[in-house]
Amino acid sequence: MRIHQGSAGARVLAFGGYQPARIVTNDELSATVDTNDEWIRSRVGIESRRIAAPDETVADMAVAAAGKALAGSGLSPADIDLVIVATCTPEVMIPNTAAVVARRLGINAPGAYDLNAACAGFCYALANASDAIRAGSARHVLVIGTEKLSQWVDWTDRSTCIIFADGAGAAVVGPVAEPGTGDAAEQAPGVGPVVWGSDGAMADKIYIKDRDSFIFQEGQSVFRWATTALHPVALQACADAGVDPAELDVFVPHQANLRIIEAIARKLGAPQAKIATDIVNAGNTSSASIPLALSRMIEHGELSSGDKALLIGFGAGVCYAAQVITLP
Ligand code: UT7
Repeated sequence: MRIHQGSAGARVLAFGGYQPARIVTNDELSATVDTNDEWIRSRVGIESRRIAAPDETVADMAVAAAGKALAGSGLSPADIDLVIVATCTPEVMIPNTAAVVARRLGINAPGAYDLNAACAGFCYALANASDAIRAGSARHVLVIGTEKLSQWVDWTDRSTCIIFADGAGAAVVGPVAEPGTGDAAEQAPGVGPVVWGSDGAMADKIYIKDRDSFIFQEGQSVFRWATTALHPVALQACADAGVDPAELDVFVPHQANLRIIEAIARKLGAPQAKIATDIVNAGNTSSASIPLALSRMIEHGELSSGDKALLIGFGAGVCYAAQVITLP
């Protein structure tokens, strides 16, 4: 791949999302496991989730979401020189999902790799994309979060099967306009500095033991960590971007649990910001949840171009990452 001159910054040009057709309601789950709609709504905030068809793969969902993002960006497949797929549920370990997705989208010979930072995956991948554009190792990057968690869930385990779901979200990321070209929005760096980290001491809080096992989660420990350790990360991302929380238009955390979303939001001090609550009808789609929520809010006319959005992904590892972006 040709090495370009680096750019002063990176910005998101378009988002795209995809949800499988099948809607699974809480009542449907209550028919097979000992749970109920009231418990799920009040403890997790989910009303329904989408589950992929048996033959629908993470690559299929990635292609659908990325195709929309690509169309929205106005670029052609030939313009993309790097594809990053964030997923912790790849169909197979070899080959990676990114090269397969690139091929199906008609993107010729891009750099292509998968990235596993679990539910923080999209924010990690977006940071990688921004850095590649600024360093000059890529000019236009397709960043995708895609998950088929349904194939790793024990459908008799009420502590996990009510939470996890399937879907994909994508973003096309490109350079800011050169000085003297484009308007102010095109010149302003649209992807702020990432604040990221991990804590391997909590590796046993969410894991899949081996290829014959299902997702295990120590829900209360993860809940406690998420509601106490993450707001400083979110606030640091604002500070590093030079954005006061009072200037945020929208807060888009990983869609893990509505109570976690609301707890972090309360500690942010940004009462004016809209809060993404896509979990209500999408469930927890891990690395797909942030771009999926954003694409759906944009589609529904809830957000505007130029809006400042604070993203924070967090999950197994544990891994976390946050950044402020300007919406396309
Ligand atoms: O995306 C990756 C990051 N993951 C997260 O951020 C998840 C963080 N954790 C959570 O969201 C929550 O801990 C859960 C949603 C997983 C669980 O909610 P909780 O309020 O922490 O419930 P709990 O585990 O403390 O369980 C409370 C009670 C228990 O019954 P007893 O022992 O009090 O009699 C559970 O057996 O609720 C019971 N329970 C259920 N009852 C009805 C657990 N799951 C269910 C269920 N339906 N599905």
